[in-house]
Amino acid sequence: MILETLKPQIETIVENSQKTINERLLNICELLEENISYYNWVGFYFRNGDKEELKLGPYVGAPTDHTIIPFGKGICGQVAVSNQNFIVPDVSAQDNYIACSITVKAEIVIPIFVNGKNIGQIDIDSNTPDPFTKADEDFLEYVCEQVASILT
Ligand code: SME
Repeated sequence: MILETLKPQIETIVENSQKTINERLLNICELLEENISYYNWVGFYFRNGDKEELKLGPYVGAPTDHTIIPFGKGICGQVAVSNQNFIVPDVSAQDNYIACSITVKAEIVIPIFVNGKNIGQIDIDSNTPDPFTKADEDFLEYVCEQVASILT
């Protein structure tokens, strides 16, 4: 399946020390958005210094106004506090949700841990309803572990 075949390419990107961290993170976004049909917006948010907020990092997809998200707000802000994966099969059923685009039907957010601390997350929006499975969750946990390995 496509997700497994992308793992070696994730490793190649992560290990490319010729590029900056942000260039490598952008390359991961591009790889995922180009190869997985139901990944339509792919981006990273990171804790903004010591502040209780997330700041948008590299991303691929429609520009968003939500470059800063307070902890607790939206799906992303909830993951910053809960330290748990969050799969939303239908964004219209969520009360605490920040809409970036009217085309988005579903979202998945997976936290990134460095030395046991939740330092950010990968956020994926889909224009397809209820597309995410355990396979996506497992794959994205792998992606986050790979990313964490270059953020230490
Ligand atoms: N939908 C997110 C906001 C970020 S955008 O998807 C890019 C949320 O509810 O946290």
